[in-house]
Amino acid sequence: MKTKKQKPDFLHLGIKLLNWFKLNSRDLPWRKTKDPYKIWICEILLQQTQVKQGLNHYLKFVEKFPNVKNLAEANEDEVLLYWKGLGYYSRAINLHKAAKQIMLDFNGKFPENYTEILSLKGVGKYTAAAIASIAFEQKFPAVDGNFYRVLSRLFADDFDVSRTNAFQYFSELALLMMPEYHIGNFNEAMMDLGSEICKPKNPFCEACPFNEECLAFKSGTINNYPVKTKKTKVTDLELNYFFINYKGEFLIQQRKDDFIWKKLYEFPTEISENINKYIRRSTLISHKLTHKNLKITINDVQCPDLKIFKKYAKETNFEISDFEESKQKSFPKPLQSYLEKMEKKEDFQAELF
Ligand code: ADE
Repeated sequence: MKTKKQKPDFLHLGIKLLNWFKLNSRDLPWRKTKDPYKIWICEILLQQTQVKQGLNHYLKFVEKFPNVKNLAEANEDEVLLYWKGLGYYSRAINLHKAAKQIMLDFNGKFPENYTEILSLKGVGKYTAAAIASIAFEQKFPAVDGNFYRVLSRLFADDFDVSRTNAFQYFSELALLMMPEYHIGNFNEAMMDLGSEICKPKNPFCEACPFNEECLAFKSGTINNYPVKTKKTKVTDLELNYFFINYKGEFLIQQRKDDFIWKKLYEFPTEISENINKYIRRSTLISHKLTHKNLKITINDVQCPDLKIFKKYAKETNFEISDFEESKQKSFPKPLQSYLEKMEKKEDFQAELF
């Protein structure tokens, strides 16, 4: 007798996931609220930041800007300051713009409808689904890398996650599993399962609620999923900076709208001939961004006297800062680390001549 291939009981899997979440959900501060503003902040913050690293930033951010109005009325530099250390600062700039958009277009009330949420600056399909489901229990799967990994393993599905329609494909699959209730929990359960159990490497299959159903686990092919053919294209970029300083003061400028590090502070990128003779040493730093391998050179230009330093600042219109003041500004990570190292050097000037 021919045996019919059994269709998975999708809904049963969804309920199993919710039951697992009841006992295993992580205790996180944004899970104690249904305030869409706070859920939005957390979802943006966690886009490129791990929970462990983002937790304190989240608490400080919502303490400083407890609602949309506070955020909209803040100045941009202040918002950037509260994002300090998290990287990908365009997220903070967009949060600020979107807060203004909510004040103007939605009378200060966070929109409840998925399409309206999606219209906010910096909010993509994943974030809109996360907010709509967690804050308003609307039936949208918040499909991200966790969903791709869990679902492709669970069903041994070789759909290529680098395809443009992967979001749509896995959303449809997730919708089959999604119960009519506890939608937000379902999405957060998938996030927890993906990050705590169904990890990219060495997953804890013994502890997985799906280990009886998971086709990849049963066939010993966990490491074949998810299938991803196109890798993100990463290119090299060289940056050259001049740390023009005199006794703990140095020159800085704010970046214009640019393809990386928009609105962050940096050191001058050019120098005139009359002062490049004061270059003492150069430091090479490698730094990886999602699409760029940065090779950064920072030239330490120690001015011999205050007059030369001040004259140069005046001619070039660069801002003068010192270590204390620079803490109130946001610098890209590698420049921030450089400043921290320079500040710690007790013999900052002793090395001069
Ligand atoms: N990552 C993104 N959103 C999250 C959430 N709501 N809880 C835990 N991790 C997340």
